[in-house]
Amino acid sequence: MTVPPSLETARCILTVLRPEHAHLLLAYRQRNATHLAPWEPTRSTEDATLQDACQRAAARSAQGYADGDSVQFIAVDRQTQTMVAACNFTNIVRGPFQACYLGYSVGQDSQGQGLMREVVQAGMDYVFGTLGLHRIMANHMPSNVRSERLLRSLGFEREGYARAYLQIAGHWEDMVLNARINPQS
Ligand SMILES: CC(C)(COP(=O)(O)OP(=O)(O)OC[C@H]1O[C@@H](n2cnc3c(N)ncnc32)[C@H](O)[C@@H]1OP(=O)(O)O)[C@@H](O)C(=O)NCCC(=O)NCCS
Repeated sequence: MTVPPSLETARCILTVLRPEHAHLLLAYRQRNATHLAPWEPTRSTEDATLQDACQRAAARSAQGYADGDSVQFIAVDRQTQTMVAACNFTNIVRGPFQACYLGYSVGQDSQGQGLMREVVQAGMDYVFGTLGLHRIMANHMPSNVRSERLLRSLGFEREGYARAYLQIAGHWEDMVLNARINPQS
């Protein structure tokens, strides 16, 4: 992989999270701490502050992109220049699998406007079109109805149900397993 992509949508610019964006991620996480906490994996306790966590996340994202392991987009609003959503394609596996995982969130103030769908669709087009991956997997807690609706609208199909699959907010939670196959492969 070479120069990180910058993708334009109607309302946002998607760019791969890198150290120079850590302040945008910090502001996003500060604004949305209560909104995101129930749905997100427990964060590492190695970071003394949220600022440390954002700097490390940005460094990991840049390295992950350079290594071909992940493409972690932040979506920046074209008008306000603030981060409004995250869309992460991680654990990229090549060989006969050609697959990755998708994770996402949109800021509380931006929910219900189709913004997440716009951002994830652009990210998927890149992952299927440019990276040529075959399968994107995305999981959600059974109670996360908004996430389920989003995935259905993007063509994801339910593939299964896994008990005590992921540690979310400190608890092992069941997950509904979903995937979208690249229509071109
Ligand atoms: C899950 C999450 C991303 C869903 O966000 P969302 O705002 O519902 O998704 P979208 O931005 O695609 O918006 C879809 C809604 O906008 C509406 N909408 C309004 N204008 C629209 C437009 N121009 N285009 C498309 N949809 C539009 C849709 O009808 C839909 O409404 P509905 O939820 O009443 O059916 C969000 O709730 C979130 O970030 N939650 C916290 C983190 C989280 O759960 N992450 C996922 C873990 S699996």
